[in-house]
Amino acid sequence: MIISVVVAAGEDNSIGAKNDLMWKLPNDMRFFKNLTWGMPVVMGRKTFESMGSKPLPGRINIVISSTLQFDGEKENLVMVKNLEEAINRAEQTDCKEVFIIGGGQIYKEAMRRVDCIYMTRVHAVFPQADTFFPPIDSAVFDRISSKSMPVDERHAIAFTLETWKRK
Ligand SMILES: NC(=O)c1ccc[n+]([C@@H]2O[C@H](COP(=O)([O-])OP(=O)(O)OC[C@H]3O[C@@H](n4cnc5c(N)ncnc54)[C@H](OP(=O)(O)O)[C@@H]3O)[C@@H](O)[C@H]2O)c1
Repeated sequence: MIISVVVAAGEDNSIGAKNDLMWKLPNDMRFFKNLTWGMPVVMGRKTFESMGSKPLPGRINIVISSTLQFDGEKENLVMVKNLEEAINRAEQTDCKEVFIIGGGQIYKEAMRRVDCIYMTRVHAVFPQADTFFPPIDSAVFDRISSKSMPVDERHAIAFTLETWKRK
């Protein structure tokens, strides 16, 4: 199973502030939805709470927490105690790929395991940020594709959809 990360980060690697995102980019949201639909997604407890503690539809949501109540599985929501357990649970779905979708703490822990990074590079800096993505080490990952998305009436900030693969 391919282990992938999906992230949107500013030029300063910022990904969030006060447990929320810092931009509205509908075409990036659509990219995220199309990429992850039908697949297992793994997230930290804080990211889950930032989504109103509601699982993303059409995907198996695997939430990592040492504090949330564990009452087994309900519909498309699974609670696990650590990243290893999350990856094992994703393997059981027989999916060819699992998507690690944040946040900062989970990205940091996952990087040594990751095969592929779907990075939306948001072309701005965000001084209010309190959560960051670890810098991508170009000695470890190659950027294999890049698609520029310009400013338009629905997108106040330009961004680039990048794919990075482990060498
Ligand atoms: N831009 C993006 O692409 C993107 C994507 C996702 C999230 N975000 C942003 O990122 C921020 C949230 O990130 P965050 O770093 O604060 O939190 P997080 O990574 O979402 O969640 C952290 C929590 O996960 C659990 N956890 C992490 N490692 C664990 C381990 N080894 N064992 C057990 N539990 C573990 C802990 O929950 P317990 O405390 O319950 O044990 C920990 O408090 C928000 O601002 C959100 O909007 C941005």
